[in-house]
Amino acid sequence: MLTFSVRLLLLLSVALTCCLALGAVSNRNTCTFLPDDARWPAPSAWSQLNSTVGGRLIATVPQGSVCHSQPYSNYDAAACATLQSSWGAAQTFVTKPAELPNYYFQNQSCDPFTPKARPCELGNYAAYSINVTSAEHVKAGLRFARDKNVRLVIKTTGHDYLGKSSGRGSLSLWLFNLKTIDMIPHYHSAAYSGPAIKLGPGVIAGEALQAAAQAGYRIVGGECASVGLGGGYAQGGGHSMLTSAYGLAADQVLEWEVTTARGEHLVATPERNADLYWALSGGGGGTYGVVLSMTARLYPDGPVGGGSLGFSLADAHNNQHVFWGAVEEWHRQLPRMVGDRNNIMYNMFNESFGVFAFTLPDQDATALEELLAPFTAHLRSKGITYTLAASQSASYSEHYDRYLGPLPWGSQPLTQQSSRLLPRRLVQDARANARFIGAVESIVASGAFLVGCVAGNAVNRASPEMENAVLPAWRDSIALCGINALWDFTAPLTTNLALKDELVSVHVPAIEAATPGSGVYLSEVDPLYRGDWKQTMYGSNYERLLRIKHAHDPHHLLYGHFAVGSDELSIDSHGRLCRL
Ligand SMILES: Cc1cc2nc3c(=O)[nH]c(=O)nc-3n(C[C@H](O)[C@H](O)[C@H](O)COP(=O)(O)OP(=O)(O)OC[C@H]3O[C@@H](n4cnc5c(N)ncnc54)[C@H](O)[C@@H]3O)c2cc1C
Ligand SMILES: *[C@@H]1O[C@H](CO)[C@@H](O)[C@H](O)[C@H]1NC(C)=O
Ligand SMILES: *[C@@H]1O[C@H](CO)[C@@H](O)[C@H](O)[C@H]1NC(C)=O
Ligand SMILES: *[C@@H]1O[C@H](CO)[C@@H](O)[C@H](O)[C@H]1NC(C)=O
Ligand SMILES: *[C@@H]1O[C@H](CO)[C@@H](O)[C@H](O)[C@H]1NC(C)=O
Repeated sequence: MLTFSVRLLLLLSVALTCCLALGAVSNRNTCTFLPDDARWPAPSAWSQLNSTVGGRLIATVPQGSVCHSQPYSNYDAAACATLQSSWGAAQTFVTKPAELPNYYFQNQSCDPFTPKARPCELGNYAAYSINVTSAEHVKAGLRFARDKNVRLVIKTTGHDYLGKSSGRGSLSLWLFNLKTIDMIPHYHSAAYSGPAIKLGPGVIAGEALQAAAQAGYRIVGGECASVGLGGGYAQGGGHSMLTSAYGLAADQVLEWEVTTARGEHLVATPERNADLYWALSGGGGGTYGVVLSMTARLYPDGPVGGGSLGFSLADAHNNQHVFWGAVEEWHRQLPRMVGDRNNIMYNMFNESFGVFAFTLPDQDATALEELLAPFTAHLRSKGITYTLAASQSASYSEHYDRYLGPLPWGSQPLTQQSSRLLPRRLVQDARANARFIGAVESIVASGAFLVGCVAGNAVNRASPEMENAVLPAWRDSIALCGINALWDFTAPLTTNLALKDELVSVHVPAIEAATPGSGVYLSEVDPLYRGDWKQTMYGSNYERLLRIKHAHDPHHLLYGHFAVGSDELSIDSHGRLCRL
């Protein structure tokens, strides 16, 4: 008996030694290193990388360090006050390496509103950035990340709601300074002949819009002017005030110049590297490779009709039934008003409804009243007073400036939000439409959230014959509706996190239940989203996207929360990225 136990113990201890050793090996191989880990690259390795990239390696010093005495010792009261006053603006983050305009992922690790004595920490910020200006810089970064087992991220502007452009202990490929703009008056391929533009990923939508306008053209770019047009914006799909007229941004792409995660530099078009072209056009940024330029279609510019419309509960004599009935009627008429070229941006609050931008391409100021006549007739029949203003602009950029400007940066607020596509067939079904409005009513009731929608017809107008990886639910939708709340960065983190919890646990499920079978825009979703993300964000495209991902990123270098293949990795309790 005793001998047996001793033998068992011996066996056990052998087994333990074996497993501990294995554990150490697998730990080294499966999780990336953090700056405090013994195997984090030595300063000499970083300095070697720096010479490989021509001195373009930047060690992150968070901009919020001017508000803290430790550990950077660059406290500066005046600079701190300036930073506090600009913390709500995209420019404050977009133009700088490692910074991101996403308060949740900033996580107050080095924030201008926390006490001076609190140490400034890197938190979720990249540890180093390469200020990329060439494919060679990208290749050097990919090689270093793989060889040294360091997490890699790609950042152009840092807008990503899911935090995909940042990561604890990461090396960031920072692409914001790739700002080349080349006009191609006569692009020619099997799929398209006509004007085009080749953009570096660092060209923000507002700059692309201005460059196109100067040459007499329009380009499909975000309502938000500060997104990287050829970065995550077009790669994720990309909606615009021109979506109904021309399609989504991904539909406009003629060529992607890309360095894949394997380090291959290639051009993907509908004819060459067609799988990669398909995946990059809507299948999500930061997943398959690093885009160094995008060539997209342009359209002749011309007049744009515009306008705004609003009414409140008070305008409906404080009759909630009448007020929400009008909002319901609005949605019933939406497919007619959108037609095949109009876009409409509107917000729904607890006690008001407001369209802040109608976009009627190639129409004049009289078109809006005609378009709205059946709806305003409904308002009048219910005794609801309303304000309506129509405008006419000579060009799309003038129209953009009027409603969402000033160009090139625009003025979109930074909110926390999650989105849902509203199916066209739903608003055409009276009961389903009423259920949707009921969900909206419940979401805005507390006053903390608003529902903001961009209505449009998102069929692939640019090239109906050419497939891409845009979520199919986009094509059947009449609007993308976001549930938005403002982030109060002067409030305690817990206040904002409570709102976030309410968003994902109450309001998102409510809107999902009211829009069964529809989808979520992968570029506008809350990181704590609890739905079936593969289905709602990628749908029937997922398996093909995953095969393409595996072909071009066999070492799992590119990871992003809710990105294709992301469930093959996980983040451990210290923040290391681990292969499962
Ligand atoms: C205030 C605000 C307004 C917005 N408005 C709109 C809008 O009007 N329309 C719309 O469709 N979307 C909008 N979005 C969503 C926006 O499209 C996404 O956040 C998009 O991913 C931004 O891309 P980016 O390159 O600017 O941002 P980043 O955060 O830098 O990158 C986003 C993702 O793309 C990857 N990526 C970036 N550059 C490259 C590259 N060169 N090659 C490969 N991968 C890359 C990143 O790794 C990350 O995964 C908005 C977002 C915000 C925060
Ligand atoms: C990289 O080299 C440049 C030029 O020598 C230098 O200015 C910069 O500080 C270096 N970066 C790092 C992270 O050491
Ligand atoms: C924010 O920081 C806290 C404390 O370090 C940590 O527990 C939490 O996971 C962080 N949140 C994010 C989104 O990184
Ligand atoms: C990044 O590179 C660009 C282009 O060379 C340069 O103008 C810019 O100053 C660099 N930025 C930083 C922070 O080093
Ligand atoms: C929302 O509207 C209802 C109906 O008018 C009102 O009773 C309630 O006070 C409003 N809530 C907020 C937070 O404004």
